[in-house]
Amino acid sequence: MTRPHISVIAAAQNASKRLADRDTPFVMNDWYVAAFGEEIKDKLLARTLLGRRLVFYRASDGRVVALEDRCPHRSMPLSAGTLEQDTIVCGYHGFRFNTEGDCIEVPSQASCPKNIGTKAYRTHERGAVVWIWMGEAEQADLSKLPPQDWMADPAWERSQGYLGLQASYVRLHENLLDLTHLSFLHAKSFGTPDYAKAAFETEIGDGQFALLRNVVPTTLPPVWGIPTGLTDPGQAARIVRSEFRSLGLHEVSVTFYDCHLTENARPQFRIRTAHMPTPETATTTHYFIVHGRDFAQGDAATTRFMHEQLFVAFQEDVDGLALQEQALASTPAEDLYEFSVAADAPAVAMRRYVLARQQKETRA
Ligand code: FES
Ligand SMILES: [Fe+2]
Repeated sequence: MTRPHISVIAAAQNASKRLADRDTPFVMNDWYVAAFGEEIKDKLLARTLLGRRLVFYRASDGRVVALEDRCPHRSMPLSAGTLEQDTIVCGYHGFRFNTEGDCIEVPSQASCPKNIGTKAYRTHERGAVVWIWMGEAEQADLSKLPPQDWMADPAWERSQGYLGLQASYVRLHENLLDLTHLSFLHAKSFGTPDYAKAAFETEIGDGQFALLRNVVPTTLPPVWGIPTGLTDPGQAARIVRSEFRSLGLHEVSVTFYDCHLTENARPQFRIRTAHMPTPETATTTHYFIVHGRDFAQGDAATTRFMHEQLFVAFQEDVDGLALQEQALASTPAEDLYEFSVAADAPAVAMRRYVLARQQKETRA
């Protein structure tokens, strides 16, 4: 087939205009993961989030401090300065800033001018991660954090990791709401051939989008087959819920069991993965991941085995999305079109929602 007719391309391009993408400005008024708590110590950490350069450190009372990483004197990054007793001393002319970002000392003069500070951002540490609110400070409400109790619950054995993604966070959210790619992009890791064809259901609500897929019977890939003991061909049920919970959190929950046993006789094995994308720039993303399971508690070898296997698969997404970004970036706008199919419904709804959020924020 040649290229679609020009009218078909125009219709596809028009449909895409209603979806958030790599060129959509960031939604600032939401919680995003800034870092794993263990990354923030008593030294300065520079990190770009939502296109803004920030500097982080942990104050002596344990609080995570986040300031704009730019000295308001002559724009030296504060992260190039030094941390002294919970204050940052700029490396250029020595202005000193406290945890609130207020300038409290100018070495070249006796008195410090008021109101020449740098912006401080609200942070909130919960479980392994540090959340940040970079939008309107008065809207930074902890009730807007997505549900995540298992990430701080000892009943869940956890591991965590970070991947640098060379693509937009929108495309990562899309990837996570689209499980039809498992049989292909993850053919060598955790995708099995029956996965793409399995029936699915969707839940599309206001800001909540989920994809549910029951693959029964199925053969588990080694990452789950070995730890659960469900290694026989066609032995397992794989019940999957993949849910966009907020701009900063997508959660995948999976239950496995032996489908040849009756409901009362079969143990259930549950895993959860928190995928937490935070935009760095329009086309790069910090990808924080926490993985948990409710079985094989305290078994470090299983934790290591599952973590290594899963991160092979997550790296496949990162590599695939980077290739997709390269193709998007090198296609002239007039030649760029994409078609959606039925399985894309939750991702399309999510991208409409993200665009609507951004447009609402711009109007406000
Ligand atoms: S640039 Fe920071 S003190 Fe001058
Ligand atoms: Fe994937």
